[in-house]
Amino acid sequence: MSNIKLDELLISLSRALDLLSPKVSEHHHRVTLIAMRLGEGLGLSEEDRVKLFRTALFHDIGVVTSKDKLMIMDFFYTASSAHTAYGRTLLNESSFFTDISDLVFHHHDRWLGPNKSEVIKDDIPLISQIVGLADRIEVLLTSDKYILIQQEPILKKISEFTGTWFNPKLIEQLKKSSRPEYFWLDLSDRFLHEKVEALAPGKEVYLSLDDVLSIVQIFTLLVDNKSRFMKTHSQSVHELTMKLAAARNFNDEDLKKIKIASLMHDLGKLSIPDDILEKPSVLTKEEYNIIKRHPYYTCQIIRSVKGLEEISHWASTHHERLNGSGYPFKLKGDDVPLAARIIAVADVFTALHEDRPYRKKLPKEQAIRLLEQQAKQELLDGEIVETLKKVIAD
Ligand SMILES: [Fe+2]
Ligand SMILES: [Fe+2]
Ligand SMILES: [Fe+2]
Repeated sequence: MSNIKLDELLISLSRALDLLSPKVSEHHHRVTLIAMRLGEGLGLSEEDRVKLFRTALFHDIGVVTSKDKLMIMDFFYTASSAHTAYGRTLLNESSFFTDISDLVFHHHDRWLGPNKSEVIKDDIPLISQIVGLADRIEVLLTSDKYILIQQEPILKKISEFTGTWFNPKLIEQLKKSSRPEYFWLDLSDRFLHEKVEALAPGKEVYLSLDDVLSIVQIFTLLVDNKSRFMKTHSQSVHELTMKLAAARNFNDEDLKKIKIASLMHDLGKLSIPDDILEKPSVLTKEEYNIIKRHPYYTCQIIRSVKGLEEISHWASTHHERLNGSGYPFKLKGDDVPLAARIIAVADVFTALHEDRPYRKKLPKEQAIRLLEQQAKQELLDGEIVETLKKVIAD
């Protein structure tokens, strides 16, 4: 039986949503902690607590650009439905999330409206109301001041909107739940992750690799949507990887792992600012150094999930090169796993054959010539480049 835990994967993927800027670090995890404390106090059923947990973990999944991300961190952000609507659309792509997609859609609805969703008061799902309140509390927190000094002013600020933005019943609960100091102390970075893990409700659910695939597909869409130049990148790399892998003797389980690794290879790009991804000229050394962190982040996010260690290794070594000149682990020769060498060939070919902000896409023949050169220089695996030539010719 698989040892991949659903909650571990969800907690880890939620963290990936906050990689972009240190200013918004751990927003989703803190919102989850606050929301779960409120849910406990309100006596929600176990089924509702499961939904609350997941809604909080992914409530801002629809935020695409760095600019949007900073905008929604402003307390007075006037909710445009863009990220809530896109969040709902994305979540509907996986059967694991359809039951929370509407809850995410409503998380910025205000008690008295007006709301784009056209519902107000008790017609707004309670779970969305709780996440919405937790979200506005979280954006008021600052790492510059000791947490217990912030307790009073935050509660005061939130209370000003009782009955207009927030359901009075929830504010009453907030006052009760947040009285003990631990409510606030838990929110500091130091113990946050242990707390989020400990609050995961429901029974332990274990996932098959097909389940993992269904969940991570959403993140592939999210990564590809970050830049118009990558619109289909992960998907295309994935398709080509599978054609190249078919020419080798992988067993079914390994093929599934390669599938997941190729779909997730650029997950860490969620940490790269849009202006770098969209820059219309060649990157500076400093910008290139920022790009270099993406496979490292891919590794960190997936590796923390037990059972996905190998997938994490394959996904995060796609920029390693056989002569040891790649990044970020400086692996060499046979230490670069075969699956990663396949993804690397698919990745380089796909990138050359796609438009970039600073150049048009190269014709296939020219791209192949460049790949052959890279194989000669011991960057890419020559045998895989040969397979690619056959695959492309078919
Ligand atoms: Fe939001
Ligand atoms: Fe949020
Ligand atoms: Fe990459």
